[in-house]
Amino acid sequence: MIDLRSDTMTLPSEGMRDAMRDAKLGDDVWQEDPTVRELEALSAERMGHEAGLFVPSGSMANLIAQLVHAGRGDEVICGWDSHCVRDEVGAGAALAGVQYEMIPGDGRYTVEQVAERIRPRTFHTPGTGLVWLENTHNLGGGTVFPLAEIRKIAAACRERDVPLHLDGARVFHAAVAEGVDVREIARCFTSMSFCLSKALGAPVGSVLCGSRDFRERALRFRKMLGGGMRQSGVLAAAGLYALRRNVERLAEDHANARRLAELLAGTRGVTVDPAAVQTNIVMIGVAGDAPELVRKLDARGVQGWPPDARRIRFVTHLGVDRAAIERAASIIREVLGA
Ligand SMILES: Cc1ncc(COP(=O)(O)O)c(C=O)c1O
Repeated sequence: MIDLRSDTMTLPSEGMRDAMRDAKLGDDVWQEDPTVRELEALSAERMGHEAGLFVPSGSMANLIAQLVHAGRGDEVICGWDSHCVRDEVGAGAALAGVQYEMIPGDGRYTVEQVAERIRPRTFHTPGTGLVWLENTHNLGGGTVFPLAEIRKIAAACRERDVPLHLDGARVFHAAVAEGVDVREIARCFTSMSFCLSKALGAPVGSVLCGSRDFRERALRFRKMLGGGMRQSGVLAAAGLYALRRNVERLAEDHANARRLAELLAGTRGVTVDPAAVQTNIVMIGVAGDAPELVRKLDARGVQGWPPDARRIRFVTHLGVDRAAIERAASIIREVLGA
């Protein structure tokens, strides 16, 4: 099987498993796990923020950020196809009590689109609690939010005293694609998160970064949501290993994704623009029923994921090398072009 459903499908390497076995541990609910402390400190340092908080998942990081910044009934300005809108079971509405003011498009918006949506709390209007960006954008096809626009949005939010949060599940991909230090992106935000389990090869975990005060408030919500973990240094050790060894190699995944798109371009019934592939996600349009085509591909040993009836997503990661990509492309061409 060549598994291109998601970059979360990676398994920990031998070296990562050794690091997990050898980790120094303590009770992290008591803030006494030295390996978790080390991961949080390294994450904050890499992102240029004061503090980090290890959380079990990207979804929990997103929910905590909304709980910290936005009150019940507040609006969160975000892209209509954001992960927090589409794929987190309505947690923002159900548990944080926010409503989304959604910007149409591919997840990359302008400062003007944000500014015209920011509104005060009055006796009629909900008021903007938070502005949200996702970079890279998952359902947009791994697209990179241009740094120049992020800086303008950050300035507009600062001027209006509205917090700006980054769902940076794949922010390292954005940094590698733009050729900048990830800190350049991360420090534009009041708070941000990144995932250790998406293409970095760790089995579990995300880190929220922000000010010390943000961390204090986030810590209480993590506990409230049942996300306080005990000897979680076994997981943080995998995260440290991933951060130290698996970031630079993301360029390989990007090149593999671009290659896959190039090999699929021109296939009958497939729409794909290789030049639009910026990172490790290839989103193709298909003429037939996408879930049915995915089942056919599966039977031939290639796995993809259909986000809707007309698209299939393929994601490259450290478990798939160039030879596997070329094999996958020829199978996909045969099945979809038939
Ligand atoms: C952009 C983005 N944010 C958040 C998440 C949620 O992460 P998790 O699956 O760890 O909850 C994902 C998962 O794919 C994602 O792609």
